Amino acid sequence: MTGDEKYDIGHYGNDTMSDEDVGRILQITNQADEFEVMMMYFDCAMTQVRTKLEILNKEMALKNRRNPFEYIKSRLKSPKSIYGKLKVKGVPFTVENVENTINDVAGIRVICSFIDDIYSIRDSFDVQDDVEILQEKDYIASPKENGYRSLHLILRVPIYLANEKKYMNVEVQFRTIAMDFWASVEHKMKYKREINNAEIIVEELRYSADLINQLDRRMLQIRERIERSEVKPDDEEKKS
Ligand code: GTP
Ligand code: MG
Repeated sequence: MTGDEKYDIGHYGNDTMSDEDVGRILQITNQADEFEVMMMYFDCAMTQVRTKLEILNKEMALKNRRNPFEYIKSRLKSPKSIYGKLKVKGVPFTVENVENTINDVAGIRVICSFIDDIYSIRDSFDVQDDVEILQEKDYIASPKENGYRSLHLILRVPIYLANEKKYMNVEVQFRTIAMDFWASVEHKMKYKREINNAEIIVEELRYSADLINQLDRRMLQIRERIERSEVKPDDEEKKS
């Protein structure tokens, strides 16, 4: 994880339950080892998807002379967050239930420069034999009520172990830098309870999200304009 301690920590973690408490529950229910192995699997799946992203980044960088990603962050969900999420879902805390009902134990966030890069990468995943897009939520085409924009994919990827092949789910969130800026600010606001003028703030945030979207589209137009005006070496040769 690269300096993003805010990525999805507190959503389901509650103040009364620590990771150590959850560790004790795992001990008592004889699931400690199994849990550790499962987390290792998720970690491997996350590495697998990160590597795929790095490869696409290198290829696209060479082809387009620019990197499609600004940066990538990844994290494993903390035990207390996992515990809390199952509790909210009303599902008993077992390793099997974690694997089957929580799609974002392994989470990756890809921050792109431009909106079209997001869809290029999505399409590349779509044609890869060993990646299945289990779920897609396109909050760019259909933003959330509050203005939130991102493309969320749940990917299912195989990991190759000594004696078996296992399939694991990984959540990937794609955003532009501008969308990420908005989401981090909005995330902080969420935890400021009993705020005065909450409705006005919600409205302001939605308005800012729309401005940010206009900005993203403009930046894309600027890039396209630059690309059109660039004289490629090939064209030069044709002229002479
Ligand atoms: P979760 O149970 O939270 O995973 O919700 P979900 O299964 O309905 O998933 P969804 O794809 O809608 O959102 C999952 C993740 O996207 C969250 O954990 C956040 O990281 C991010 N996210 C979704 N909505 C918002 C939002 O309104 N604001 C911000 N800042 N982040 C959001
Ligand atoms: Mg989540």
